[in-house]
Amino acid sequence: MASLAREAEFWDQVVARGDTVSAVGPDDLCDPSVPWFKLLDLDVFVQCLMAHLRLRPGMKILDLGCGQGFLSTALAHRGAVVQGIDISPLSIDYCRRRAELSGTGKLATFSVMDCQALDFEDASFDAVCGCFVLHHLDLERAAAEIGRVLRPGGRAAFIETLGLNPLLMLARATLPGRGNIEKASSEDEYPLDRARLARLRAAFPGRMETGFPRVVFFRMGGYLPALNTAVGRPVLRALDRALGAVPGSGPLSYYGIVTMQRGDAAR
Ligand SMILES: C[S@@+](CC[C@H](N)C(=O)[O-])C[C@H]1O[C@@H](n2cnc3c(N)ncnc32)[C@H](O)[C@@H]1O
Repeated sequence: MASLAREAEFWDQVVARGDTVSAVGPDDLCDPSVPWFKLLDLDVFVQCLMAHLRLRPGMKILDLGCGQGFLSTALAHRGAVVQGIDISPLSIDYCRRRAELSGTGKLATFSVMDCQALDFEDASFDAVCGCFVLHHLDLERAAAEIGRVLRPGGRAAFIETLGLNPLLMLARATLPGRGNIEKASSEDEYPLDRARLARLRAAFPGRMETGFPRVVFFRMGGYLPALNTAVGRPVLRALDRALGAVPGSGPLSYYGIVTMQRGDAAR
């Protein structure tokens, strides 16, 4: 099966297995239906993404690979006019119902679409964003499309899974699916390692950066049921906080923020 169809089927199945649609509140910075994300400080990453986009009411934003619509809905709660797209039809259906339930149905609209072949005019968005999506894409094609649909000077920001820590990559390759360890990733995703980040940098020369608002390393141990306990979680968090205080530790993180800006205008 071609990778696009396989991705759509994989994420359709994830949605079909899930619970009923839940609302996103106006103050939520993290998907309330995934408590695990709060442990990973994803709310801090979302704040960082919004700050990079210079989010303001009325801004036209494209959310790539919007999944179950948390980010689109959170942006719409803050007054942005959001277009979410995803290759999985069931995800898009979920997003529409979630936006209605959250009171953002007028500002957030959703379509089934391939991020690598966008059906939008050139320069039609003030900003482009996404959460855990770039590492599912052909980066050359996706970067070309991001640059094309951004207005001159427009900014893009993505919360991404990184492949810069060899220990985490080894764990990712060997542990999921064994014992009680969840396999949460599809066949067609590749964390952004140095070579992949270099491809994005080449598409936005001098205007692409990687940032680490928090170091998420020990907390990935939470995938091991023995560590994901009331005692284990605060210990993993404290270890990450200590690691994050070490200068230069950012690339050890499993998550980071990748930002770009289209040229042709003042920064
Ligand atoms: C890891 S999920 C992230 C979903 C959501 N952004 C979130 O943070 O929960 C990756 C999403 O990217 C979507 N996706 C993968 N490849 C895609 C493509 N070529 N075009 C559009 N969406 C795609 C998948 O269907 C899935 O919903």
